[in-house]
Amino acid sequence: MLRVLSRVFPSVQTHRKIKSAAVLRSLCSAASQGPVFAVNPIMEPKLYQLPPEVRGMTSLDKEAFKQTITVPALRVPTGVLNKVVKSLRKSTIQRPGLPRVVQDKEESSDFRLVLLDPHRVSSPSSFSEAEAEALRSFSVTQELHYYELQLTYDNLKSEEVLEAVLPQGQDVTSGFSRVGHIAHMNLRDHQLPYKNLIGQVIMDKNRGITCVVNKTSIIDSTYRNFKMEVLAGEENMVAKVKENGVTYEFDFSCVYWNPRLSTEHQRVVQLVKRGDIVFDVFAGVGPFAIPAARTGANVLANDLNPESYRWLQHNCKLNKVESRVRTFNLDGRAFIRGPMKDELPALLKGKAGVHVVMNLPAMALEFLDAFRGLLKQERPCVENLPTVHCYSFSKADNPDTDVVQRASHSLGFPLEKQCSVHFVRNVAPNKDMMCVTFTLPEEVLFRCDPEHTEPPEEPAPKRQKCEETADTSS
Ligand SMILES: C[S@@+](CC[C@H](N)C(=O)[O-])C[C@H]1O[C@@H](n2cnc3c(N)ncnc32)[C@H](O)[C@@H]1O
Repeated sequence: MLRVLSRVFPSVQTHRKIKSAAVLRSLCSAASQGPVFAVNPIMEPKLYQLPPEVRGMTSLDKEAFKQTITVPALRVPTGVLNKVVKSLRKSTIQRPGLPRVVQDKEESSDFRLVLLDPHRVSSPSSFSEAEAEALRSFSVTQELHYYELQLTYDNLKSEEVLEAVLPQGQDVTSGFSRVGHIAHMNLRDHQLPYKNLIGQVIMDKNRGITCVVNKTSIIDSTYRNFKMEVLAGEENMVAKVKENGVTYEFDFSCVYWNPRLSTEHQRVVQLVKRGDIVFDVFAGVGPFAIPAARTGANVLANDLNPESYRWLQHNCKLNKVESRVRTFNLDGRAFIRGPMKDELPALLKGKAGVHVVMNLPAMALEFLDAFRGLLKQERPCVENLPTVHCYSFSKADNPDTDVVQRASHSLGFPLEKQCSVHFVRNVAPNKDMMCVTFTLPEEVLFRCDPEHTEPPEEPAPKRQKCEETADTSS
């Protein structure tokens, strides 16, 4: 990086990209002439005016962002340098890849220049009382010098680059979810012409991201994954993530994974004790099942998506809990009426806690009808009834009431006074994810009344190929 001490810059100036060697030479010769103090210069309010030519760029040209800028600086004796930098940490320049301390132009080993942020410091009076006091105590003169340095693409933040490139006045939000090495974006229509540039910027500015994908459809698929397009980087969709100390691997293009659920996974797993039994009806790649098994629970985990099922098994092995987790590749209702029904009679007579986790928020409440009359052939036993944690989205004004009403309807039993509702997260404007927790009523499990017993078997949802699926928000 070229760094040159300027002669006189009465105001903060932004220079266009240095195009010729001649300009370079003239700057270098200016450097040899040394700094000139410019006390109380008129400073422009915004330091970094990125070159207007970059506006509308759709393919990233990093060179176009190069410019020379001038920043204020203090000349500081080397003996007190560290202390001064520490005292001025709110006023020094803070940019990726830019130094805060540079060699004094006079090459004197007794002094260094401390570079200041022109947004904060425009004259000696800009220093706070505490900073000014510190400078006095270290006998540092508060006169401002000016230092020229080259600002490149590498020194810019992603928002700055995107703000300069995308049409003025439009939202440049560059937020993404991180899934291992993959940045997962959800670009708006006006950002799509710039999608590859945005992908490249996100990859360049975020260490460890080597692949950027964009959600290309909001079709609500059975398997809750979504169709995506690679915007930048390698097309490797097999991610490795760590959540609450547990490692998971999976093909992100074929299964459901949401990094925003880690707190919820932890909350529920903390309710599970060693020796408990967990039925995970919509297990995905295992973020409830595997940590529960690690705490010493015995788990029956199910997922209809063959890819989730495969990665679930893989993750059980990866985390060495395969002896504690039995895996199934069934529709949720078939799982409840098959493996769960087989296990329940013995468990209801036992002492171990029994949990049923149902995280398919778009539909899980509807699956509660599978419990109606599930054990009607068994003798009622009420000592150790299972605790159900069932998730749902709600767009209602009162989501708590809404989800309890829907759960009650599906169970054919009023839950109003015997459940708790937990707000998980806001998924979209006016759309919340909730969790209803309740003890499965004996009236539901052992009911013989034909009106309230299990509804007729429904065909399993049509399976889609991994490439055809698409998700939504959860
Ligand atoms: C929202 S994800 C939750 C996954 C995981 N429990 C988690 O918290 O990340 C729902 C899962 O249910 C699975 N699924 C969808 N429909 C199903 C069904 N009818 N029966 C069983 N699993 C189903 C999907 O493949 C997906 O893995």
